[in-house]
Parts: sequence; C-alpha cells; structure tokens
Amino acid sequence: MAQLTDKNIVLGVSGGIAAYKSADLVRRLRDAGARVRVVMTAGAKEFVRPLTFQAVSGQPVHTSLLDPAAEAAMGHIDLARWADAVLVAPASADLMARFCHGLADDLLSTVYLATEAPVAIAPAMNRVMWVHPATRQNLATLQERGVAVFGPGRGDQACGETGAGRMLEPLELVAALEGLFAPPVLAGRRVLVTAGPTREPLDPVRYLSNRSSGKMGFAVAAAAAAAGARVTLVAGPCAMVTPSGVQRVDVETAEEMATAVQQNLPGQDIFIASAAVADYRVAHVADDKIKKSDAAMHLQLVPNPDILAGVAAASEPPFTVGFAAETSSVEEHARDKLRRKGLDMIAANRVGQAGGGFEADSNTLDVFWTGGGRRLGPGLKTQVAQELVGLIAERYQGSQGSR
Ligand code: PMT
Repeated sequence: MAQLTDKNIVLGVSGGIAAYKSADLVRRLRDAGARVRVVMTAGAKEFVRPLTFQAVSGQPVHTSLLDPAAEAAMGHIDLARWADAVLVAPASADLMARFCHGLADDLLSTVYLATEAPVAIAPAMNRVMWVHPATRQNLATLQERGVAVFGPGRGDQACGETGAGRMLEPLELVAALEGLFAPPVLAGRRVLVTAGPTREPLDPVRYLSNRSSGKMGFAVAAAAAAAGARVTLVAGPCAMVTPSGVQRVDVETAEEMATAVQQNLPGQDIFIASAAVADYRVAHVADDKIKKSDAAMHLQLVPNPDILAGVAAASEPPFTVGFAAETSSVEEHARDKLRRKGLDMIAANRVGQAGGGFEADSNTLDVFWTGGGRRLGPGLKTQVAQELVGLIAERYQGSQGSR
C-alpha cells in the first residue's frame, strides 16, 4: 500500500508516557513514504526530549507558538497549510479537552484550529480517565466534527492497571492513517457490517459466548467508512471504540443481532458478516441464578437463526460477504459455506492458533468466490481489512451488470 507516499504529516505529541512510542511512529511513517514534522506540547517535552524527534524525523521540532524563529520559517499557519494530515499520538485527556473547547494557547491546539487537513487522534490515558463522562463527551464532540479516532487498545497500562486506554502500536497507527487516504471506492454505497461475539444467557449472571474481540469487524467497518461508504455496524458485546463516521447498533444475543440486521437491511448495497455468532442458545433461560449442585448438569441447546444465510436469501439481497472461522481444511469448508449460504464472497481465517483469528491483532484471510480466490495478508487486521474492502469494492462493481 502506498497511501502515505509523499504525504506531509504533522505529528502532534502530547504529554503521556506513550510519547516514547511516537519516536518509533515517526520512523514507521517515514518508512511508509511520508514526510513528518513533529509538534510537541509542553507536557510531551517532560517525557521525551525534542532532540529525539529531531533525530528520527530529520527536521526541526516545533514546540512553541510564540517562537520568532519558527514564525519566520514554519509557524502555526504554515504547518497547518503544509499538512496533508495531522495525527496526534499520544492524545492525552487534556489534549482532547483542549481541542474540544477550541483553545489556541499553544502550537498544537492552534495548528488543529488552523488546518483544513484531516485530523486524527490516538488517545492514550488511564482506563478510568478514558471512560470518564467528560472524556466520552469530548470524544463524541471531536468525532462529530470529523476527527478520526484511532484506538485506544486494551491491555496493561503504565499506571499498573489493565483496561482500555493504551495507545495503538506505531504500525497500527500507520495502517489507520493510510485509511484516511484510501481511494473512495465505496463512495455513495451503504454497507452493513456485523462484528464481535454474541452472548447467549443461561441465567441472569451467566452466558455462553466466544473469544471474538471485535477487532476484525471494527477494522472492516472503519475501512469501509474510509472508502467513502455509509456504514452501519451491528456489534456484539466488545470493548472497541466506534470508528469515525460509523453508525453503531449494540446488541447482545444472536436473536438481537438478527433483528438489528433485518431492521437495517433495506437500502444496503453490501453486507459483511464478520461477527462470531453463537450457533446455539439455551432452550430455557433460568429466571434465577442456577444453584450449584454435585450432580452433572445438562443444558439443552437450540439453534440460533443463521443471520448471514437469511440476508443472502432475501428477495433482493445486497452483495453478501461471509466470514469463515476454520481450524482445518480451510478452503474446503469455506467454499462449502459459500455455496450452502448462497454468498457472493467468503473470507476465511484459520483460528485456534497464534498469529491470526480470534483476539489477535493480525490476520490472514483466504477470500473465495465462485471461480476465484485471493489471499490477503498476513498483516495487521487494519491493513487486511483495507485490502478486503478494496477487493469487495472490485467484485461488487463487477457484479452490478449481472444483477
Ligand atoms: O473479533 P476478532 O477477535 O478480531 O476475531 C475475528 C474473527 C475470527 C471472529 C473473524 O475473523 C471471523 O472469522 N468471523 C466469523 C466467525 C464465525 O462465526 O464463523 P463461522 O464459520 O462459524 O460462521 C460463518 C459465517 O456465518 C460468518 O460470517 C458468521 O458471521 C455467520 N453466521 C454464523 C452463525 C449464525 N447463527 N449466523 C451467522 O450469520
């Protein structure tokens, strides 16, 4: 992918421990062909010295709004005009609040106000700060204004806690930024995506589910939106941030997902089913918590509706893309699902091993259609999703004459 070749990227660095990763991000952006100029806030300089960024970017680092030398060469207006995109990584809670309120008392916030280029932020903060209502509100406001939000991820945090709030890794940020420059191959199209797991309750406190994190499906939704589509994302329970510009419908069970898909289906051009839907639910959900006993316990399971097959069987179905999670004989099983469910395409991934499938950040997809196929990846799910959306757009356009 050469989306960043010769692109001018202003990388804003705000104050947070994740700032140390931003030096590597500069290198990765340059490896992808971009020119990078770094703007640091006062807080960022407490974590990493400007000299580090100067060394990795090969350019002077910009730190001050009222710097006479900078004003003569690259002041805030010049930087704002120079940028093809502004990426702030890490974006602290304070930085988000400042952008939200339109403050203009330091260089980075002023560049944000003065630029007409797309702006993206990669939040990084303690998990409690991330879910604080003030941060949620600032996030929603920035997204409404068109700011793209990359991440954050979940995991161990510098403060010793575990949860959502980690800055995405440099390569993930490069892939997400490439998405901002993706050709609008789905402009004017409506795309419905399912993602994440479903939860099938046993009683008020227990459920059956699976390991799906939502990473693959959310990456597909983000890539489709970046390609110009109007995207609706029906998501099972997962801790993913809604991609910018995507309309999200949260559901819990397979039956709720089936209903949400049917409600949102009219007018859709493309349906992509990446959710890991539970095939079965318990026949009778207990009203009260099931008591422990020494006797063996038997659950009676009944099949859930097949959401994907239902869409493909509609009288005027959209271009329908399924996923297949397989542990063996991947092509054979995937082609069988393609045929049985009446799909236009299926994206198969090998699951149950490291390096792809459930929960992993990377994946490899073997995509099949009648008479053809193509391998995508291995790569980050964000990159593989962009390739998949490109392939879907190509096959969708090709299918239009024959419908
Ligand atoms: O979420 P991640 O952690 O990133 O992991 C990604 C993933 C492994 C979940 C994803 O890449 C994937 O493979 N999703 C499909 C998982 C799955 O349920 O596969 P399946 O082979 O059991 O189902 C085949 C297809 O039918 C899928 O498109 C599924 O969404 C759909 N289906 C299945 C059952 C059902 N009742 N309704 C459905 O629509």
